[in-house]
Amino acid sequence: MIIIKTKEEIEILREGGKRLAFVLNKVKEKVAPGVSTWELDQYAEKLIREMGDYPAFLNYRPEGAVGPYPASLCVSVNDEVVHGIPKKDRILQEGDIVSIDLGLRHKGLFTDMAMTVGVGEVSPASLKLMKTTEKALGIGISASIAGNKIGDIGHAIESFVRPHKYGIVEVLAGHGVGRAIHEDPFIPNYGKKGTGVKLVPGMVIALEPMLNNGTKNVTIDDDGWTFRTADRKKSAHFEHTILITEGEPEILTLLR
Ligand code: MF3
Ligand code: CO
Repeated sequence: MIIIKTKEEIEILREGGKRLAFVLNKVKEKVAPGVSTWELDQYAEKLIREMGDYPAFLNYRPEGAVGPYPASLCVSVNDEVVHGIPKKDRILQEGDIVSIDLGLRHKGLFTDMAMTVGVGEVSPASLKLMKTTEKALGIGISASIAGNKIGDIGHAIESFVRPHKYGIVEVLAGHGVGRAIHEDPFIPNYGKKGTGVKLVPGMVIALEPMLNNGTKNVTIDDDGWTFRTADRKKSAHFEHTILITEGEPEILTLLR
């Protein structure tokens, strides 16, 4: 069921999104060679709790998951696509690219955001992969206009990505968000124009393209969480929570 958020809920999601963007940008500033992915997680959790909010991923159990997620932040390095579990002995190295993905619950409502950042200096190929993925998210947001359909978002992203020959991950997708971390609808990063559910003002959705510098296929590690590219080439991931309005979409996970 697709939930249309009330004015009051939208106000809370706006504040939550602003807080989430603040925290994730702070975490981004901590990304450097020698830092463990666990330190990033601890820092994210500390900042969220200091604001009186809650880390949304900690103990969250998505459909089909092996168990509750054991951390606040997902940290996915290089060929890891999403849902990498932070670890004390996973030390970031110069040239790595790392997706940091965080959810926040503010006054009972959820927002979701991710970005991929380079560790120190990264290769031109990695830079291009990250830039293109961020642009793909922007393209998806621009297509998120009331009256358009879910397939129009996927189509816009897919058409933009095609000339770059990157693999678009298909088994994971954007999603409704707000009263829960994952709500309907499922929002693939590919699709056919004019298909799927119609976008209506008051819908809140998370868009999250994942682009691979190779095959679109992914595998899951023995930990049951970490999605990884099947050919072990690098992957990038960007995500915003947005509000469908009468006019331009509003990015809720924005620094204000
Ligand atoms: N942003 C992630 C997603 O939409 C949320 C992961 S929740 C977790 O898939 F519990 F799996 F970490
Ligand atoms: Co998400």
